[in-house]
Formats: sequence, C-alpha cells, structure tokens
Amino acid sequence: MVNTPRTVAIFGAGYIGLVTGACFADLGHRVTVRDVQPERIRLLNAGDVPIYEPGLGDLIAANKDRLTFTLDAREALKGAEIAYICVDTPPTASGDADLSRVWSVIESLKDAPHLTAVVIKSTVPVGTGDRVRAALDEAGLGHVGYASNPEFTAEGKAVDDFLRPDRIVIGASDAATAQLVTELHAGVEGPVQTLSVASAEMVKLAANALLATKITFINEIATVCEATGADVEQVARAIGMDHRLGPHFLKAGLGYGGSCFPKDSRALRAMASNSGYPFQLLNSVIEVNDLQPRRAIQRLKTELGGLKGRRVALLGMTFKAGTDDLREAPSAVIAARLLAESADVHCWDPMARPADAAPWNSTTRHPSPAEAMRDADAALVVTEWPDLNDVDWAAAGRAMRRPLLFDGRNALDPDALAAAGFTYMSVGRATLRPRVTVR
Ligand code: UGA
Repeated sequence: MVNTPRTVAIFGAGYIGLVTGACFADLGHRVTVRDVQPERIRLLNAGDVPIYEPGLGDLIAANKDRLTFTLDAREALKGAEIAYICVDTPPTASGDADLSRVWSVIESLKDAPHLTAVVIKSTVPVGTGDRVRAALDEAGLGHVGYASNPEFTAEGKAVDDFLRPDRIVIGASDAATAQLVTELHAGVEGPVQTLSVASAEMVKLAANALLATKITFINEIATVCEATGADVEQVARAIGMDHRLGPHFLKAGLGYGGSCFPKDSRALRAMASNSGYPFQLLNSVIEVNDLQPRRAIQRLKTELGGLKGRRVALLGMTFKAGTDDLREAPSAVIAARLLAESADVHCWDPMARPADAAPWNSTTRHPSPAEAMRDADAALVVTEWPDLNDVDWAAAGRAMRRPLLFDGRNALDPDALAAAGFTYMSVGRATLRPRVTVR
C-alpha cells in the first residue's frame, strides 16, 4: 500500500473522532480535529483527553506535531484533502437517526478547495450515502468522492481495534475514492473489504445486531440452565470451541449496554419497520435484553424475601469494565428498580464519573467495594472490574448484614465466595450456599 501523508479534517472529538484522528496522525497523516464544544477543545489543546480510553492520551501526545484541535470548521478544512465525519447520530422520537450534525458538517464543506473525499464513520441508516451524495452535488461538490467507512472499535480497546482490526470496511461511490481511503489506512494491520456504500452502512448495523443477538442467545440459555440445573459457563465454553460458533460474546450477564448495541439494534429495527418489515428476531433480542437486569432484581427480591428497606451494594456502574461510560448501562435500570422497591442503594465504581442525575442522585457512592458492602443485605456485581479480584471477600462478608452476593457478570470464583461465607448467586448457574459460618 502507498503511504502518502494526507491532510485530514475530522469532525467530532468524541470516542470515534479522537481515536480516528490520533490513529491517522500516528500513521503519518496531518490531522485537525474539530468539535463544537469549547470545553472539549480547550482540554485537548491543554494536553488533556476529555474521555477515558486506554492508550489514547499517549497516542495524542506522541503525535502532537501532526495533530491539532479546533472549534473552527474553516481552520480544520484549510488544506484538507479528506473530511471524516465522526459526529453522533442519536435516535429521534421515531427511532430514526438524527442526522442534523452530519448535515451541518456537509454545509461547512463548501469552503474546502482541496477536498477530494468525504468519509462518514458515524453509524447511519442504510441509504444515508445517497442522501449525502445528493447534498454534496447540490453544494457544488460534485467532484468530491464519498465513502462510508464504519468503525468496529470497542470502548476500552479502541486504539488497538483501529490499528489491528479484523477488517477495514470501505463502501465508496467510485474506485478512486475507494483507493484513496484504502491508502489512508496504509500501516493498519487488517484486510480491506471494498463494497457498495449501502452495503458498508448495513455491515455496521448488522454486525452489532448479530453480536447483540449472540449475547442475548447465551442469556436465554442461561435462564434455561437455571431452570434445568446446567451451568451456562461450562455450556458456553464447550459451545465456543466449535470454530463455526467461536468463543466470543458468549458471556452471560445482566445484558448488553453502552452507546452502541442498544442504539444500533433499535435503529436497525426502526429501519426495517419503516419499510413495513417487522424484524422479529431483533424485536425479541431487544425485549430479552430489557428483561435481563429486571430478572436479576426479581431473583434477589425472592432470595431476600423483599427489597423494602434492604441495603444493596452495586459493585460497578459502567456498562462494561475498562471504560468510564455510563450510557445505557444496565446499572441504571438496576439502581432505579431497587429504588422503586424502596431499597437503599450504595454504589462503587473505579471509573464512572460522579453522576448527579437520577437514579444516581438517590444512591450513595463509596470509594471501595468493601465500603459499599458494609452493613449491606446483598451485593450485586454489575460490572466485571478486575479490582474485584483484590477484595478480601471473607472480611467484606463479615462486615455485611447478610453475606449474599449476586454476581451479575459471572466474574468471580463461586467456590472461593462460598468458602468465604457467601451465598453466591450468579447468571445461569445454581446458587451456592456458604461453606463456612461467618458469625
Ligand atoms: C461495540 C462493538 O463490540 C464494537 O465492535 C462496535 O464498534 C461498537 O459497539 C460501536 O458500534 O461503536 P462497545 O459498545 O464498546 O463495542 O462494547 P462491547 O465490548 O461490545 O460490549 C457491549 C456490551 O455487551 C457491554 O455491556 C458488555 O458487558 C456486553 N457483553 C459483551 C456481554 O454481556 N457479554 C459478552 O459476551 C460480551
């Protein structure tokens, strides 16, 4: 692959824009990242990173000579050959994607004399490419190529996912643009898949929906395991050894969360519904995932004989470990449900930023798992933080009113917890009763 340094303008300094910008700068390109939020740009210009993403700060610092940040679209576009759109596309009331931020970027491209390609990384409905193409033509940018280059990076390992992806998907309007975007990735260790714009748009939505389906499938199997005496961890391990199925995304738990799977599965469902097709499988996936955290609370309620006035410790708040992100985290549903049952909710999380909105403003935050668990009637592992491996469980159990642990991520060793005096509940496995008496 040819490695010609290009001048790239990135629109959006969120997770995707910052990772994309920093990685392109690392590959040798000159990158300007533009965002509309003054505080975000101020922090970046001061050498701070406004989001938590492992390795991102170091990558930005290492490439600071080729990486600038601005509020000004014209400045970002000065000399830019390629404009990357990485703005968010939140759902509207109808479930359609709100593309207003995309359109305002397109609007600003009129003042970019060197521009040869516009690439969209934001997740968009299939067909957006045609609309963008028409908007570019209307804006007198008929000579500018267009491509969809969806991202498949997962939070917490986004830099590595970008630089060593399973595949780079490029859906371009013409061969020259496909070649340009391919060359832009020179140095990235992954195969390039070139396809139509609409197919590239669909790959992103379909891949996330299939991953969400895989998680939901194992959560359904877990429920059947609970009813029949099988152990979902043993089942998942053996299923995953079949190379046609693979071991990934077979971890049963409290359901998927985050900024992508819930939003993208709903967007794909809305897209299908808009064309009159009820995507029944995806409907079930969304429904089961919604139920998953509620089932956990119901099981806890049964075990405790009611939740009113019970003190419950939530261990973990973020939607997964390795991120500070609380978006669509199952923890919020769990905390809100517990509060609705008049429980007293105490939380711990090593990364989540102070959250003062509901339900968090009605909970108490603690600096360690042990402190959150003191005097509690039950503790619930919501996020699989590795810090939980360092907890002195026997001591934490002795400090609880009742040593009951619901491991919502099947993250801990059941035998060790039972030996530490806990009643150990988990997802898709039998409840273990304590092997020693703590009091
Ligand atoms: C996801 C995809 O993995 C990325 O490929 C994609 O690019 C990204 O969405 C996106 O569209 O931007 P992310 O949301 O960061 O990435 O997180 P994942 O690691 O995929 O986890 C999503 C949720 O599924 C988490 O709540 C996690 O706890 C849950 N999960 C994951 C399970 O419950 N079980 C599993 O086996 C795997």
